[in-house]
Amino acid sequence: MTRLNQSKTCCPHHSGGGIDAVCNISRPNTNSSEVGDYAFEMINSTLRFGKGVTAEVGYDVQNFGSKRPLIVTDSNVAETRAFKEVANSLTKLGIKFDVFDKVRCEPSQKSMEEAINFSRSKNYDLFIAVGGGSVIDTTKAAALLTNNSDADFLDFVPQPFGKGSLPSKPMLPLIAIPTTAGTGSETTGVSIFDLPEKKSKAGFRLRTIKPTLAIVDPLNMLTMPRNVAIYSGFDVLCHALESFTATPYYKVLFFYNRKALKI
Ligand SMILES: NC(=O)c1ccc[n+]([C@@H]2O[C@H](COP(=O)([O-])OP(=O)(O)OC[C@H]3O[C@@H](n4cnc5c(N)ncnc54)[C@H](O)[C@@H]3O)[C@@H](O)[C@H]2O)c1
Repeated sequence: MTRLNQSKTCCPHHSGGGIDAVCNISRPNTNSSEVGDYAFEMINSTLRFGKGVTAEVGYDVQNFGSKRPLIVTDSNVAETRAFKEVANSLTKLGIKFDVFDKVRCEPSQKSMEEAINFSRSKNYDLFIAVGGGSVIDTTKAAALLTNNSDADFLDFVPQPFGKGSLPSKPMLPLIAIPTTAGTGSETTGVSIFDLPEKKSKAGFRLRTIKPTLAIVDPLNMLTMPRNVAIYSGFDVLCHALESFTATPYYKVLFFYNRKALKI
């Protein structure tokens, strides 16, 4: 909820003036002394699922009216069926595209900046991420910071690592085509990177970086190396377990707002 409240395009009833002004409009009129939130909101990327649907991506690029798409991937995935399907689909429709295939597995600020500098140097109007969480997260950062070309890398990263500012422009359209089956990055507003000098992982957390379209094609996962398939499974398990260990949504406001409310 706190993340949603900080986003510019929030629901007007549950945001509007930052954390302190939250829920002033539609909070039920009760005498309860309990402090917290009473609603949650779910916004998802459009998700298309089906065996072989990767071959349709060229039509999606046309529908977006894109003239200059960039495919982002890593050097392993660039050799797989998934990448070839995407490239063939665009080529068949006569769509010209560039490829950035230097994404680092477990991206760092430095490796993401390499992708951002590449995409800023051309006028790309649409991004296609073909790969696992590392590729999709890197592409989100590139699509966001290419459209906000004056911003520094850490401007939109929450404190304490970043400035926690809000972007003035949304991310450029992003089609995410996952080739692993664990992170769920194709639908989240999160992009994670390593900060080796701080010995930490940090991330962008903004609803504006949810991919515009997720194309989930089970055939793209068949080439996953054995260990990547196993670790993807553990990623799903951990996400599921977090549902039991995370602070409930109705306690989040209390947790963050205790000081502001002087209680
Ligand atoms: N944004 C989010 O919501 C979110 C959630 C969880 C994790 N993450 C991030 O995702 C990253 C991990 O992503 P991941 O687990 O998907 O792995 P990955 O993208 O790091 O890929 C792991 C390895 O598998 C290879 N690979 C991937 N798909 C393949 C395929 N189909 N065929 C052959 N090789 C393939 C890659 O080249 C790479 O070497 C981490 O950086 C993590 O922080 C993000």
